[in-house]
Amino acid sequence: MRVPGDKSVSHRAALLAALCERGNGTRVSNFSTSADCASTLRCLEQLGVRVERDGATVHVGGAGLHLPRPPAGALDCGNSGTTMRLLAGVLAGQNFPATLAGDESLCSRPMRRVIEPLELMGARVVSREGRAPLRVEGRRPLAPIEYVSPVASAQVKSCVLLAGLNADGRTAFVERHGATRDHTERLLRWFGVEVEVGDESAESVAGDQKSQARSVSLVGGQRLRARDVEVPGDISSAAFFIVAAALLAGSELRVEGVGLNPTRTQMLDVLRSLGADVRVENASECSNEPVGEIVVRGTGALAPRQRGASILRGELIAGLIDELPILAVAGTQVEGGLEIRDAGELRVKETDRVRAVCENLRAMGARVEEYADGLFVEGRAGLRGARVRSFGDHRIAMAFAVAALVAEGETEIEGAECVAVSFPEFFDLLESVVER
Ligand code: S3P
Repeated sequence: MRVPGDKSVSHRAALLAALCERGNGTRVSNFSTSADCASTLRCLEQLGVRVERDGATVHVGGAGLHLPRPPAGALDCGNSGTTMRLLAGVLAGQNFPATLAGDESLCSRPMRRVIEPLELMGARVVSREGRAPLRVEGRRPLAPIEYVSPVASAQVKSCVLLAGLNADGRTAFVERHGATRDHTERLLRWFGVEVEVGDESAESVAGDQKSQARSVSLVGGQRLRARDVEVPGDISSAAFFIVAAALLAGSELRVEGVGLNPTRTQMLDVLRSLGADVRVENASECSNEPVGEIVVRGTGALAPRQRGASILRGELIAGLIDELPILAVAGTQVEGGLEIRDAGELRVKETDRVRAVCENLRAMGARVEEYADGLFVEGRAGLRGARVRSFGDHRIAMAFAVAALVAEGETEIEGAECVAVSFPEFFDLLESVVER
């Protein structure tokens, strides 16, 4: 099978293509079919960027670092945190104000994480106590900063780097809580921007763990040169199929043309350490991103290499963030169970994913313990079909579709249509690969 284009890469390809020198267009192929990425395209159009879409191919006209015009109304980011947080960085360097709005879920998510660095750079951001809608009053040029982020977030990193393009000097973003996805850095380079990455190992606060601090920086005012982009398949969408295949004994699944960026593939390593048969084949590159094929052979219940409960925690979490709900589902089939810690960020995603996973797993008969920063799932549980809720969260709906396949009896997922936020084809594709 193939999965549609990567959501994270698609957002960035469209945004950066819009910032390319005026007059030059970029063709983005295999653009994500998600509602989230459609939100990004609509916002760009409202800002006067030329966008033409023909299925999975999108042409974006370069408008330069200074966008053509203020939007007529509020920019509707829908359910998309990436749209809101990345666009905030772009808007901070414009000489007009603009308002970023979103749905109920997005308006309840924390935005101080982007407001703080943007205000340090000289923009003004008016919010409702740190939540959207956000009115971004830009300044030109922005002041460069060196920002040590209190949260591990690729969205915050990208926001600061995008603002940095309109700053008067070098802007640096320091990650101290694990490396987050680096698609922004890779695509900036693809479009000709010089991005510096520095690694330094530092003792962590606890002192007993070495932690890696990574600094990413760029000098403002660099020009972006338009260049076509081919988006790799979304490994976070493939993840649901990979886990389903691993847990259903006798399965064999090959996912082609999928992104294998090392900041996104931790899930494959985790599955392997839990005893799953997952391999990577035919690795190559596309538009500065690693791609290849993932091959899974289903074993049924998983027996980890190490005895006892398997624990996911610390710096590992940033690289697994979107896969934690489906890994928690996999945890029900792992000998010794699975514990997830240091994942408080899960509580501020499209819904509180710790609560949602615990509630649904319990409804299906699993034994689960909920912690402030994660959960523990008892392993080798025979799940039973139940009525569960999506909580309006696409990844919860998809994770529990996989749980349903593993369970005895029928499961009903309330509000399952929200899969369209990232993966409208999910249920059709699932039907096409599942043998009854
Ligand atoms: C994303 C980053 C992650 C991830 C989200 C997409 C991105 O969020 O959960 O689905 O494209 O940058 P955070 O950076 O806030 O952790």
